[in-house]
Amino acid sequence: MQAFTIFGGTGDLTFRKLLPAFYNMVASGDSFSYQIVIIGRRPYTTEKYCEIARDWVKDFARLDYDEEKFQKLTSYIDYYHMDFTVQDDYSGLDAYYKKRDLKKHIFYFAVAPRFFSVIAHGLTKVENACHGKVIIEKPFGEDLASAHELNKQLESFFSPEGIFRIDHYLGKEMVRNIQTIRFSNPIFSNLWNSHYIECVQISAPEDLGIGTRGGYYDASGALRDMVQNHLFQILSIIAMEWPESPEKLFDAQIRVLRSLRPAKDVDIKNSLVLGQYEGYQNEKLVKPNSNTETFAALRLFIDNERWWGTPFYIRTGKKLSQREIKIAIIFRTSFLQKAAPNILIIKVQPSEGVYLQFNIKKPGDTDDIVQAKMDFSQSDCINRLNTPEAYERLLKACMNDNRSWFSRWEQIELCWKYINELVEKFHAANLPVAKYAPGSQGPKESDNLLEAAGHKWI
Ligand code: BG6
Repeated sequence: MQAFTIFGGTGDLTFRKLLPAFYNMVASGDSFSYQIVIIGRRPYTTEKYCEIARDWVKDFARLDYDEEKFQKLTSYIDYYHMDFTVQDDYSGLDAYYKKRDLKKHIFYFAVAPRFFSVIAHGLTKVENACHGKVIIEKPFGEDLASAHELNKQLESFFSPEGIFRIDHYLGKEMVRNIQTIRFSNPIFSNLWNSHYIECVQISAPEDLGIGTRGGYYDASGALRDMVQNHLFQILSIIAMEWPESPEKLFDAQIRVLRSLRPAKDVDIKNSLVLGQYEGYQNEKLVKPNSNTETFAALRLFIDNERWWGTPFYIRTGKKLSQREIKIAIIFRTSFLQKAAPNILIIKVQPSEGVYLQFNIKKPGDTDDIVQAKMDFSQSDCINRLNTPEAYERLLKACMNDNRSWFSRWEQIELCWKYINELVEKFHAANLPVAKYAPGSQGPKESDNLLEAAGHKWI
């Protein structure tokens, strides 16, 4: 038996994503050889913890709830009560592992980034911990400098091959699908450049607010929480050259990140809009006068031969009108004035699929042009329950040493650098964080980013 230890075992991430992922693995009958050690500060017994976990699993697991399967999951769980900020407590943890003969380790740091190094330091007291693997949640650090420091500390304890920097968007079915859609369809791959593509839009609005995560979110904001990691992953996969093998994926992504038009050369007013939903400052654990953005919209350019002149728009935010992720590719229009652009939309969630819009003659005795809208929904026609969810895949990938599903340090570094420079320029220009009404599409200023070029959010 190996140990899979989760620091932050009573947090939102563990309940909402990790335990449901473990439940799915156990319920699908996968062979499972891990003792799941939940580290938490609250004085729970394992029984009490599992009692609390039950409802989360019911609500968030992909597979239907089954009491017997849940009991099977609980047979792997052990709650270990400790304050992970207290260094002396790690000797007790070491004794616990020894007593249960747990010598091989995966550690999951499901905690705020400021605790990563505290835990890594504590683990020096645990025999064999340094030969184990560690999964680090995003954001990796709080800015470029802290990310550097964190990386240094982690690499001084774990081997570089043992560090798995997770970005769960890399495990999403339709994010994995982008490469296939792009490269195995000549009707797209041959047109995938600025000669034929007018603009690209990556939208990831969310309807929920920050819930109980005010402490974390207020120090982070939409740019660090969503853009610097998840949405830059999507952007770089959409824009990259063909990676000849899975191992080359990150090199291809990195080349895109290196080609982003440097922040110093962008017209910041027309490149970045930040917003905050009304009522955010009254949320729990948020500073009363907080200026943290809960919405971000960006217009970026990739200055390479393929993408010269094509804008990439990105937007995300909390408390917007709906939750979805979609990537829209808007092609240039034909010489026929009345023809609308062809639009390809890769629907990432909640429904998964591909939408394609093209022009046809209006049926009947007319030459008018109308748009045909083909909407393929993978979630409706393929049994989606058979497809593992992002965290499930990524946990398995780590267990199987498959590193191609995790972010590389160089990627993280480039993304931080870019976002930092953009934010600095935004503040230097004294631009305001615009307010927006909950349930809306975000601040109207985000439309202006597109209007100058005659574009509109899809
Ligand atoms: C997390 C962010 O990484 O991703 C959250 O911290 C966000 O703020 C979440 O809500 C979105 O993930 P998903 O899988 O629901 O799109």
